Amino acid sequence: MPDLHQLIVVANRLPVRNVSDRDGQRWVSSPGGLVSALAPVMTSRPNASWVGWSGAAGRAPDPFVHDDISLYPVELSRADVQLHYEGFSNGTLWPLYHDAIAEPEYHRTWWDAYVKVNRRFADAVLEIAEPDATVWVHDYQLQLVPGMLREALPDLRIGFFLHTPWPARELFLRLPWREQIVRGLLGSSLIGFQTEVMAHNFRHVVPRLVDGSEITDDIVTVAGRPTVCKRHPIGIDVERFSAAATEPATSTAVEALRGKLHQPRTVLLGVDRLDYTKGIAQRLRAYGELLDEDRLSAEDTVLIQIAEPSRTNVNGYADIRSEVEQVVGEINGNYGTMIRPAVHYLHRSHDFDELIALYRLADVMLVTPFRDGMNLVAKEYVATRFDDTGVLVLSEFAGAVHELEQSVQVNPYDTDGLKEAIEHAVLMRPDEQSARMSAMRQTVAASTAHTWASSFLAELEAE
Ligand code: F6P
Repeated sequence: MPDLHQLIVVANRLPVRNVSDRDGQRWVSSPGGLVSALAPVMTSRPNASWVGWSGAAGRAPDPFVHDDISLYPVELSRADVQLHYEGFSNGTLWPLYHDAIAEPEYHRTWWDAYVKVNRRFADAVLEIAEPDATVWVHDYQLQLVPGMLREALPDLRIGFFLHTPWPARELFLRLPWREQIVRGLLGSSLIGFQTEVMAHNFRHVVPRLVDGSEITDDIVTVAGRPTVCKRHPIGIDVERFSAAATEPATSTAVEALRGKLHQPRTVLLGVDRLDYTKGIAQRLRAYGELLDEDRLSAEDTVLIQIAEPSRTNVNGYADIRSEVEQVVGEINGNYGTMIRPAVHYLHRSHDFDELIALYRLADVMLVTPFRDGMNLVAKEYVATRFDDTGVLVLSEFAGAVHELEQSVQVNPYDTDGLKEAIEHAVLMRPDEQSARMSAMRQTVAASTAHTWASSFLAELEAE
């Protein structure tokens, strides 16, 4: 008989990853916003647990405890990964929820696998849940789980948080399985969205799909059962980022990097997963045109682009890699020298310390996605700018723009606008940089990962 739990987090991925090195195989905490946001809240509760996938296809490991959290791996076969993760989650929902930047594909076999895998996650929760447990389900891969749980154990406190955008009404209505998704989500009593527009879009699509539903303020009621659907924007572990930024080792690393880059006057930085939603090629083209027009010079400016490999088996991701690498090649062919490329492109992930040094090195941070639920990189950059230097160029279509109002805001589809924003950022006077950055730092510090997680759970448990 497995242990029963009072708090259960359910997410597609477990908060750990398996590494094998000279010391053998072991689990280490995954980097990433969700894990660092939830870890303090979970470890402060007795007997907290997490249900998720290990990231490897095939037999799931037995349940185990890591950093005081009980982990329950869910098994996904190779076919489940292809049809549920790469297929319906990242070939249908991901592009649809990101304004159909890439064409969503609709396949009934993908949908069937989505239902089957959501059922498996729900069953894993039901095996370990106290009858009145709090269950917090995360993200677009698991939108049917709240409904499945509500049907089986009506007294559970079920919350759901969508990390991605929720799309505009006409886009969502394209989805052949739209009613099932909405009904699945409405199994929750609290649904959190990154922005008010996304929460509004969700609330107002419900009456079109569910007969007899009513909306009052931010509450949707179906058959007498209310679901609060509201903005609940995610934050970052501000303390961790700002403390690391002031470490002496960080300044040493930054100085070393500046030296290796031949002391450029301006460093521009992009840090993204290599995803077609991030607008990486567009941003690079804008930079290239600024060099073409002599509005920037490669002699004293350099752009560093980190592109973390991601979802390499999903349609569209290989194409975006080729496109980005072609633009990088063109710019470096035109403006690089033997010792000094105009763009440093790094197709790999970076560890926390390297990232902090890069954030501290960057005079201008370019966060220009076509669409993004929040974008935590924008907040991380701000948290490391303890001296109020640096400029954040931020897309109008990233959720973060609703909080970081003092950024230089840009429409990433508008190449001329993007060029003007980059130029404006590079030339910005220190007093203006400081006024903007200090305001943004206060905003980021006031709404952290910890306040996000604890206030969501407090609201869910107050029902
Ligand atoms: O933004 C949505 C999200 O699922 C994040 O939670 C996650 O860090 C990122 O995308 C990467 O996703 P994947 O699990 O597909 O590698």
